[in-house]
Amino acid sequence: MQIILGVTGGVAAYKSAELARLLVNLGHRVRCILTEAGARFITPLTLTSLTGEPCYGANPDQGEWRAKPSIEHVELARWAEVVAVVPATADILGKAANGLANDLLSTVLLATRAPVLWAPAMNTGMWEHPAVQANLARLRSFGHAVVDPGEGFLACGEEGSGKLAEVAVIAEAIQMHGAPKQQTLSGRRVLITAGPTQEDLDPVRTLTNRSTGTMGIELARAFRNAGARVQLVLGGDGPAPWGVETTRVRSAQQMLEACLARWADAEGLVAAAAVADQKPERQSPEKVKKGDEPETLVLLRTPDILAQLAAARRSDQWVIGFAAESQNHLKNATAKLNKKGLDAVLVNDVQNGRGFGAQANTLTPITAQGAHPPLGPLPKDRLALAVVNWWAQRLEARPD
Ligand SMILES: Cc1cc2nc3c(=O)[nH]c(=O)nc-3n(C[C@H](O)[C@H](O)[C@H](O)COP(=O)(O)O)c2cc1C
Repeated sequence: MQIILGVTGGVAAYKSAELARLLVNLGHRVRCILTEAGARFITPLTLTSLTGEPCYGANPDQGEWRAKPSIEHVELARWAEVVAVVPATADILGKAANGLANDLLSTVLLATRAPVLWAPAMNTGMWEHPAVQANLARLRSFGHAVVDPGEGFLACGEEGSGKLAEVAVIAEAIQMHGAPKQQTLSGRRVLITAGPTQEDLDPVRTLTNRSTGTMGIELARAFRNAGARVQLVLGGDGPAPWGVETTRVRSAQQMLEACLARWADAEGLVAAAAVADQKPERQSPEKVKKGDEPETLVLLRTPDILAQLAAARRSDQWVIGFAAESQNHLKNATAKLNKKGLDAVLVNDVQNGRGFGAQANTLTPITAQGAHPPLGPLPKDRLALAVVNWWAQRLEARPD
């Protein structure tokens, strides 16, 4: 992809170097445009060195405009397959929202027909100001995408929202927003659970499992890429994918409540979370001290999220479960399919630690028709795509 990366005058401008490098490593061509203020925070030489392409715009040595300004802004606007402004100041958002064009970047933003994406970064007060939010709403109404800033410690010493989103999330958003859209599941609404749940024993100890959430997160990405509107209910610390509405939860009870609140609005559920089946009978508000006596942990069952959602489903809703089995895979998965009334179970062989983390994996779909040919072994991003393609074909064949 040919990417124009606009860099404006905020402290987070130094992160644009890491982003440019990541995008180049992912095989894209990146040309940077610095505003005059942006060039006070990062030099054209850094960006040129990392991208292997000229850096345009303000240059302390050459002045704002180069030799052929009238051609340059149109040429760049046409060259771009996507324009991303990272970091985006309150100033550039205001200019672009109102069609102002008084330097190279703002002119390219007006001239281009490519998709435009913003990753704002600024002080919390600026970010929360109605003028900035109104400008963003206006940019969104033009079809522009926004990677919202996160919360954290800001360079101004405040803590709050306005911190530039993670570079990897911005790179994903740029690739997603700039790529031609796949529409196999366009408009479908899918609820996905992912990650482990955690049941706290006390403020420092927790009962959980070895799930990282990678498979469910990749499934959320793959459904999103196929045009679906995805709600992800996520346990653990895995990164929330861009363009997916993510709700973070900790315990099985929280996951159940988050899912129940979203289930009526979805037409399908993919339950990829590794829900801890047990929780301690007692949760201590203070750290439990070592005693001299032998210690016994009494466990209670957590709610069966998949069974509850399957039982509450309407006839137009579908449900896919996962079964992590270390023995009798197909028999156990078929029993799960029938007991919970699921449309499909994807069986994961977890013997000897297989199936967890970033490694390649195989999933065998089981439906009322029996076992289907296994999907994989594939890295989890491609495996998720294979699952989505397999399921999209079955959805198409389903009577409405
Ligand atoms: C040290 C410093 C840090 C700044 N950080 C930010 C910032 O993070 N976000 C922002 O919107 N403006 C920030 N500003 C203000 C912008 O640099 C200023 O509005 C400038 O005119 C933006 O120009 P540009 O949008 O053309 O790059 C900062 C200014 C200074 C001096």
